[in-house]
Amino acid sequence: MEKVIFDTDPGIDDSMAILFAAACPEIKLLGLTTIFGNTTLEGTTKNALFLKEKFNLDYDVAMGEETPLFIRAGKCPSFVHGDNGLGNIKLPDIDLSKIHHLRAPEYIISKVREFPHEVTIMCVGRLTNLAKALMLDPDLAPLIKKVIIMGGAFGHHGAFGNVTPFAEANIAGDPHAADLVYTSELNIDTVGLDVTQEVIMNESYLQKLRDNCHKAGPFIYEISRFYYDFHKKSAGLDGFYVHDSSAVMCLVRPDLYTFEEGPVRVVCTGPAAGHTIQKTSTKAYPKDEWASSKALCKVAVEVNAQGFLDHYFKVLEVF
Ligand code: BDR
Ligand code: CA
Repeated sequence: MEKVIFDTDPGIDDSMAILFAAACPEIKLLGLTTIFGNTTLEGTTKNALFLKEKFNLDYDVAMGEETPLFIRAGKCPSFVHGDNGLGNIKLPDIDLSKIHHLRAPEYIISKVREFPHEVTIMCVGRLTNLAKALMLDPDLAPLIKKVIIMGGAFGHHGAFGNVTPFAEANIAGDPHAADLVYTSELNIDTVGLDVTQEVIMNESYLQKLRDNCHKAGPFIYEISRFYYDFHKKSAGLDGFYVHDSSAVMCLVRPDLYTFEEGPVRVVCTGPAAGHTIQKTSTKAYPKDEWASSKALCKVAVEVNAQGFLDHYFKVLEVF
């Protein structure tokens, strides 16, 4: 089984990804490390604990960073995920005393050191927790088996950004953290908007999930009403893009994706802050800010959308 730390800001699509990961027989979820983003840090942490209790799941919840490395935190996108991050469904009181005694960056370090070369870290929010772990422990990166990032937009299929014309939310939320991660000695697979916006769960698919996937389907349907309305208003879709579950799919079904290899850098300041750029050519330049990257990066450029939807359904049907 693949040992996974899921770094997340639940979040409606984060929650759908957590349930999918929990249902995948190939995955052993060690812990959820939480991050500010879709709602406040307290809110994302409560939501991680809520899912654990509601679905009787076995993972640690380690609370992470509350602000980006160097910039100020933006406003939470309550118009996308609701005020509580879960589409404003009614939530019970959650006891925060059940969180892990280590903060997220230290939790990541301790698990990777306990299981060297065995832990995959899936990041589906700002990359601040992982960046902090790498700053605290400079020898950590080569001990991490793989990092899978839902983030960025590389211009394939016309995908350049969703929070600015040239930046995706998770990267724009902390571009310095993202650039640090992308230049560290890591093995990184990225599923950005290029592929996540190619997979759409429409209303009839969501109803099928609700009616056939008895454990998680009705809950997914309930929390995603708000997300569905947002996509309908903002993009005219009958359905929504499948962002964070793409990180899980990339681990369990890499055959559904086509990748391009080459180092990635992140624009950290100015009007294009948060823009992700991959260098796929091997051409040499007198000055090359990509050449010094120590990471092995693969960026997904194509996805088999029907294969994705079928597999997501199949896994949740037997959860
Ligand atoms: C990403 O931003 C968040 O709103 C989603 O949870 C996803 O991780 C998509 O840009
Ligand atoms: Ca997310």
